[in-house]
Formats: sequence, structure tokens, C-alpha cells
Amino acid sequence: MTSIPGTQVHPDPAAAAHVLATELADLIMLREAKSLPTVLGLATGGTPIPFYQELRRLHSEHGLSFKGVISFNLDEYIGLDRQHPQSYWRFMHEQLFDHIDIIPENIHIPDGTVDELVLRSHCAAYERTIKNAGGIDLQILGIGTTGHIGFNEPGTTRDSRTDIVDLTEETRMSNSRFFDSIDEVPTKAISMGCGTILDAKQIALMAWGEQKAPVVRRALQGPVTSDCPASFLQDHPNATFYLDEAAASQLD
Ligand code: F6R
Repeated sequence: MTSIPGTQVHPDPAAAAHVLATELADLIMLREAKSLPTVLGLATGGTPIPFYQELRRLHSEHGLSFKGVISFNLDEYIGLDRQHPQSYWRFMHEQLFDHIDIIPENIHIPDGTVDELVLRSHCAAYERTIKNAGGIDLQILGIGTTGHIGFNEPGTTRDSRTDIVDLTEETRMSNSRFFDSIDEVPTKAISMGCGTILDAKQIALMAWGEQKAPVVRRALQGPVTSDCPASFLQDHPNATFYLDEAAASQLD
């Protein structure tokens, strides 16, 4: 089944982040009213920063509680210690977790420091933990210029699961803006697979800026192909792209 993902175009990232954060707050409160947890899949990188800023505001100014939230991050670099300034563990704590009331035991981020020998079983255990939590209710995504979601680069199959992945040179170059040099950007990561992501009940992908416009077009209006893993979202029954005008500028 192909159900074209919904598309929302907003004047700027802050406006889009506000709408998505409000939708998430409604979901959390709705599930809380039924005594159900909300299982979130979370992304890192530059894109979700305004979204996390808005969630912090909803917590501090409007009392939105995250006590019923269970979170699973999409990915983590292999070889970076938790306290490394560019680890995704640190990013998530600085951007969100340290500022809200989420219960620390409910935070899940792949561990990029586990011994090579047990990395595969760590990935399998991550999958099981997601399943045991009841599956992801809302998965937040960014998109790489290569078409990756999570760190699933072109060539990844639609049914891939949490695993060790190689980062493309394009992705390492793009992420080197956060490091002192490209040599410091790890070459491998642990990433939820495309299948893991597509199992989420609802998916929200954010993209901002002109540099994302070509890949947003390929993801939404190109063929569904592993050359652009984000195009798999065309087959998801409940996926929405939250875009600013620049990122939407090449859509028909
Ligand atoms: C991050 C992730 C990646 C990023 C993508 C875009 O957890 O999984 O897919 O969403 O690389 O990165 P930014 O937002 O920095 O452009």
C-alpha cells in the first residue's frame, strides 16, 4: 500500500516544532488519561533542537509531565563515550532529558561503547526492549542528505533491524560540523533499522532549509527505493513530514 505521507509546510522551524510538540503533548496526555505510557522514538542532530526546546517550554511553563514517557533513541556513534561532547547520550541529556521529569530508567539510547564481541547482542536486546515496551507510539525523525533515516544509509533494506551500520562519507562530512575535524567523526554507529522505524504507530519527520529540499522531494515524490531509505515512509499508514518553506521548496 502506498499512502503518501502527510506534509505540513510551516513558515519556519520554530513554528513547525511548536505544532509537533503540541501534538506530542496531546498524545502524552491522552495516553496518561488511560493510564498508558507513551513510547517515543527520538532523533538527534541539528533538526530536532527547536522541537526539544519547545518540549522543555511545555514542561516548564505548562507543566507537561514526561513521567509516563518511555524513550528510545534512534542511534549512537560507536566508540564515543557517553560523556563525549558529541555522543548522542550527552546531546539528549543536554537538549532534553536534564530539563524534564522523565524517569531515567525509561531512557534508552544504544551504547556505542559496548565490546565489539557483544555489540550484535546489544542491538538484538535493544529491539526486544522496544517490543517489550509495547512498540513505539510516535517516532521522531530527521533526514540526512543521503536519504538516511536513523543512520540507515542508501542500500539498507526496508526490513532492517537495529544493527551496526557504516556511515557514508557524505554523512560524516555533514556531521563534521559538530566535531573539530572530519577525522574525529566515527565511521560506524548503532542504528535502529528501517523495519524498526516503520513499525512505529506514527512517524513525524522534520526537515529544515534549502539543503534538505532535494532529499525531501526524493523521499516524498520519488520512487520507493533503498537508494533513499526515507522513501520507505511512503508505505507507512501514518507518517507526516513537518517542513519549513525552504525544505518544501522543490515539492510539486
Ligand atoms: C539522528 C539521526 C539522523 C539525523 C540526520 C539529519 O539521530 O538519526 O538521521 O536525523 O542525519 O541530521 P541533522 O538534523 O543534523 O541535519
